Amino acid sequence: MRRSGPFHLECARCATTREAEGLIGLCSCGGPWLVRYALDALAPRFRREALGGRPWDLWRYREVLPLLDGESPVTLGEGGTPLLPAQRLGPILGPAEVWIKDEAENPTGTFKARGLAVAVTRAARAGARSLVMASAGNAGAALAAYAARAGLKARIYLPADTFSTMLQECRSFGAEVILVDGPLPRCAREAQRWAAETGAFDVSTLREPYRVEGKKTMAYEIVEQLNGGVPDVIVYPTGGGTGVIGMWKAFAEMRALGWIGDAMPRLVCVQATGCAPIVKAWEQGSERAEPWENPRTIASGLCVPSALGDFLILRAIRESAGAAVAVPDGDLLQGARALATLEGVAACPEGGATIAALPALVRSGAVRPRDRVVCFNTGSAVKYLPHIPALERRA
Ligand SMILES: Cc1ncc(COP(=O)(O)O)c(C=O)c1O
Repeated sequence: MRRSGPFHLECARCATTREAEGLIGLCSCGGPWLVRYALDALAPRFRREALGGRPWDLWRYREVLPLLDGESPVTLGEGGTPLLPAQRLGPILGPAEVWIKDEAENPTGTFKARGLAVAVTRAARAGARSLVMASAGNAGAALAAYAARAGLKARIYLPADTFSTMLQECRSFGAEVILVDGPLPRCAREAQRWAAETGAFDVSTLREPYRVEGKKTMAYEIVEQLNGGVPDVIVYPTGGGTGVIGMWKAFAEMRALGWIGDAMPRLVCVQATGCAPIVKAWEQGSERAEPWENPRTIASGLCVPSALGDFLILRAIRESAGAAVAVPDGDLLQGARALATLEGVAACPEGGATIAALPALVRSGAVRPRDRVVCFNTGSAVKYLPHIPALERRA
């Protein structure tokens, strides 16, 4: 059923639809909501070629973002990150063209800024006073910054072994940080309990509909930066999956808008061998992923043993004829070092994982010699640098 208004919500699991008014958590079936726009009506007037004069940040795509007429976003200038040709690494790695989408340029140094800018905007406009989240560190820092920008309170549950740089970053924006003795799912349960007790709005991964909308702008930007072209392959470090889910949604939207013809990229998810539930499920041909026992990786953003959106990540890989691959911690650190020393890109370990994965992807045929490949550096090295010697020892 099509709803009135510029956008509405559809449950990704049971396909129920609803109006997008108020503070919205999960569907009653437990599935996450996704935002739907009237793309047929938008197509004639929302053209890529007409974006030229707009500021180079993610709000240039406002027709496909959940912003109502007359509303202004909560923004710190997120999005508009560079797409860099890998001039020295490319020839070493094999495919014809390798590009690096460098998300380190975002506020708080990671792609998480995109999702939180949009989620905090909607939460603030819907009257939220206080926000809560479970995070591995980077999303928490982004929440803390955008909550400060919007004048909202933020409480963030982090695993006790989160890098000190990240928890200090959260605190520096005035957020309350609670350290939890256990992995991310335990933090998530604590955040849910706090939300139920106090009425704080839970903006943890996929528990509200709008972070995905911010993340999807990465795909819109790539198409603009390639002058309307679509890469053959996108390689993405995957934890909770909002990046991959958002980009797959964006490519479907751009196809419906007539921006990219029928071209679609193959999506490759990279995880760490010490926590690879999506890779395991993909190899087994499953539609859901089993929770990963004893998750262990130094790439904290990839230390997600079970993801609410596992079925959406696996669907994106399957529908795009993509792949999923795991790399050991030592290799992903080496990938980050290669990005830094050969390309000048200050890459986080998660970003290094995409470079580390490429040789195996070429060997398996998931990436072909003539492919144009975009690898994501999802965050800046800066928060990790003080910890690198310890991480190298652990890896
Ligand atoms: C630097 C970094 N890269 C990648 C990821 C994984 O992102 P997603 O949850 O979108 O799969 C995270 C998540 O915390 C992260 O912090």
